[in-house]
Amino acid sequence: MVTTQKTSKPARKRWFILIALLVLALIVLLALMQWRSMQHNSSAGDAVLLEKITRYDQSHGVSSDTVQRGMYLAQAADCIACHTNTGGKPFAGGLPMGTPFGVITSSNVTPDKTYGIGNWSAEEFIRATKQGVAPHGKLLYPAMPYNLYATVSDRDILDIFSYLKTIPAVAEPAPANQLPFPFNIRQLMFGWNLLFFNPSPFKPDPSKSVEWNRGAYLVDGLGHCAACHSGKNLLGGNRDYLLGNDLEGWHAPELSGSHYLGLGSWSTQDIVDYLQAGGNKITVAAGSMGEVVSNSTQYMTADDLKAIAVYLQSLPGSGKAAPAALAATDETMVLGHQLYQVNCAACHASNGQGVNAMVPSLANSPGVQASGANNVIRTVLVGGRGAATHSNPTSAQMPAFAWKLSDTDAAAIATYIRNVWGNAAPAVSAKDVAGIRAKLNAGALLTQH
Ligand code: HEC
Ligand code: HEC
Ligand code: HEC
Repeated sequence: MVTTQKTSKPARKRWFILIALLVLALIVLLALMQWRSMQHNSSAGDAVLLEKITRYDQSHGVSSDTVQRGMYLAQAADCIACHTNTGGKPFAGGLPMGTPFGVITSSNVTPDKTYGIGNWSAEEFIRATKQGVAPHGKLLYPAMPYNLYATVSDRDILDIFSYLKTIPAVAEPAPANQLPFPFNIRQLMFGWNLLFFNPSPFKPDPSKSVEWNRGAYLVDGLGHCAACHSGKNLLGGNRDYLLGNDLEGWHAPELSGSHYLGLGSWSTQDIVDYLQAGGNKITVAAGSMGEVVSNSTQYMTADDLKAIAVYLQSLPGSGKAAPAALAATDETMVLGHQLYQVNCAACHASNGQGVNAMVPSLANSPGVQASGANNVIRTVLVGGRGAATHSNPTSAQMPAFAWKLSDTDAAAIATYIRNVWGNAAPAVSAKDVAGIRAKLNAGALLTQH
């Protein structure tokens, strides 16, 4: 039966609420737009200082030839990592990237006129890389870190553009994204940009040295370190600047001067060594950081890496204090100690010191003591491999122990290495290990006969 009745009282009330909500949404939207336009207008700061910071590479040994310099900057920005598929042609795109919202595929950025950027103007290229807006108003997803590249100078982006135009064109389309509704609607990124995208240029701090400012410029812009080392909100926006973040079963540690969870106990040279060689006397870069070192930071000049180190160590960090370490007489610690001596000491040494630039030290290691024990559990279960770099082409490997250690045993070892040799961190439970074992499909314990 169709009702032709006039709108009843409760229905009118509902309409009223709906209109009120719409008006409210409109007000919020206008306020956000106002806030954003204020960000647009913020001043770029000291022009002379800015010039010194963005040209620092050239005064420290990088060629001023546009194409050469563009290649250096593209390496510093690690464009190749995302824009090259496994086994694919360089910069031809097609790398599937899993996000909580679906699979996003990177674009072809070779100079092909049909499938790449061959027909793009310089302005179009700058707008896509720094604002996430490709030609014809196509809004990009922030899987492309335009929200971080926004602080890179136009000149740096133009040199990258000049370099990309010299690489071989690849006449192949990158496969389409696989995003479910509503995430397949690109226009939604308009809202995301309003909420999370700050398009302000880099603002130098005149009270700090040129070196410190160069470090900040590289970390925040080209290096896009926050993409992995900052926490994420539910919609993928960055929060908790460089205070550490869990990704793909790894933990990207806090980058700060904190002695407990950050880089405070590393020397500046330790950080330079780590980023250049993929390992230092404390640890070895593995997982996605191994790839960052292999594709990107190993090519940067020692002066640029030192600037990054100086900047990161100046950050106060979360200020988290170490908990009291578990007592050596604790039952779990005793079991962990025994199992460590049998399974791990051959490589990591009884005192946890490892082998310089090959086997990481587990003593006083921020990675080992991180609040989340993901890295430790993951490495014990499935093993790992350090970064391969020009200065260290055969990276060392850590064997998998999933077949040999039960959840209880692995938890005891993990708890032990997190609470001995001056380390202190929350204990790891057998349940934590079981969860990661299942998630990584690491395989079951081989039962003894
Ligand atoms: C963390 C991964 C990542 C990095 C690093 C990255 N990109 Fe991207 N880029 C992507 C993804 C994914 C897309 C596709 C986004 C989409 O479909 O909305 C993309 C899209 C683009 C586009 C748009 C192409 C088109 O046809 O719409 C350009 C241009 C681009 N990237 C250039 C660069 C440059 C230059 C660099 C280095 C300075 C770079 N990207 C670094 C992931 C990345
Ligand atoms: C693609 C993700 C990703 C990006 C981008 C990234 N990192 Fe990392 N980083 C990680 C992960 C994961 C680890 C932990 C690696 C391990 O345990 O071996 C790590 C570890 C580190 C460490 C060692 C910290 C410690 O306490 O052991 C340093 C230093 C570091 N990263 C610096 C940087 C800098 C500087 C940048 C930007 C130029 C950067 N990272 C960009 C993922 C990333
Ligand atoms: C054959 C030598 C070898 C043995 C045995 C070994 N490791 Fe490793 N371990 C390595 C190497 C090499 C790496 C660096 C590669 C990596 O991080 O994946 C490493 C990395 C690690 C890391 C990551 C450190 C960091 O800073 O992120 C942890 C934790 C670790 N090992 C713990 C253990 C434990 C616990 C055992 C015993 C159950 C063990 N290892 C046995 C060689 C070994």
